Amino acid sequence: MTEPKNLILVGAGNMGSHHARVISQSTGANLKFLVDPRESVGRAVAEKFGAVWAPELPDLAGIDGVVVAAATEAHYPLAMQVLNQDTPLLIEKPVADSLLRTREIIDLAAHKDLPLMCGLLERYNPAVLTARSFMQEPLHITGVRHSPYAPRIKTGVAWDLLVHDVDLAINLAGAEPSGVEARLGFFHPESEHNAEDVAETTLNFPGGTIAQVSASRIGQRKIRTLSIYEIDRLIEVDLLRRDVTVYHHVSENSVDGEGRGYRQQTVIEIPELVTSQEPLTAQFERFLAVIDGTYDAATERATILPPHEVIDKVVAERTALRT
Ligand SMILES: NC(=O)c1ccc[n+]([C@@H]2O[C@H](COP(=O)([O-])OP(=O)(O)OC[C@H]3O[C@@H](n4cnc5c(N)ncnc54)[C@H](O)[C@@H]3O)[C@@H](O)[C@H]2O)c1
Repeated sequence: MTEPKNLILVGAGNMGSHHARVISQSTGANLKFLVDPRESVGRAVAEKFGAVWAPELPDLAGIDGVVVAAATEAHYPLAMQVLNQDTPLLIEKPVADSLLRTREIIDLAAHKDLPLMCGLLERYNPAVLTARSFMQEPLHITGVRHSPYAPRIKTGVAWDLLVHDVDLAINLAGAEPSGVEARLGFFHPESEHNAEDVAETTLNFPGGTIAQVSASRIGQRKIRTLSIYEIDRLIEVDLLRRDVTVYHHVSENSVDGEGRGYRQQTVIEIPELVTSQEPLTAQFERFLAVIDGTYDAATERATILPPHEVIDKVVAERTALRT
């Protein structure tokens, strides 16, 4: 058995507190420092999970990995600091708030052959893993990620929300898209000038698969659904409830036999989930495996850029609409 890894967590907000819990519960890691410039918040989370609070990133000597869950705007300088000290990095999504910066971070990690992971958490959703375990040939994929408004999130929904479903679509289709079309909506009075509230995107894949993904923050409830259409099967995934339902159409006729009303026969299957592990725990275990070298760092790094490239194309629509 290998020694527990010494970890630093940066960011004690919503996501950071979840990471703190997961790291502190892991037998493979010691949470050494929790970094956040907000002392009251940072100190409270650090104390709760047995770490030392620091207002900024300390020296990384003796540290085996850093998890960055700070606000997206702070990702770039933090990532560069960590990688320049030759330390493995798990950074929340999106890696940075522009493709240029994202590329710089990935390139630096690749140049140094350092482990770099991005918190594209839905990859580890038990319902997604279950659907993937029996899915054969997805032809048409639709994803919906709608949320009520959250004023604290400054980035538009493309970088904040859509990136998850674009990533899932790429993983399900097994390829990078050959075509990206997007429509953006700017609606909320509290949103920053160039931050879209709605993003509708269509992706075309080389094999012919089409994905339609929709992200919105002007919803009145949280919706997280994914539908995978094969030639004779529909796999519906509820990412929030973490369940999977499979539909096979059998027949349809009228209710009264004279053409009025509609009656449908459908077989519904509810498969057993392949895992019940919390996605953040599964993601962190992957990070430990990448640090250890039991999972290939280059393979993991190679999965990060494609969804970011798509989002960059999506937000290019901003220029067309807002200038
Ligand atoms: N993977 C997911 O499903 C998921 C979900 C939500 C958020 N996120 C990502 O997690 C990140 C944080 O989001 P959140 O919702 O927790 O935000 P938040 O506003 O709740 O927390 C951000 C924290 O970062 C701290 N911070 C700001 N600048 C910092 C710096 N330079 N150094 C250290 N800490 C700094 C803030 O003080 C704050 O405590 C974002 O990148 C977001 O996109 C990912």
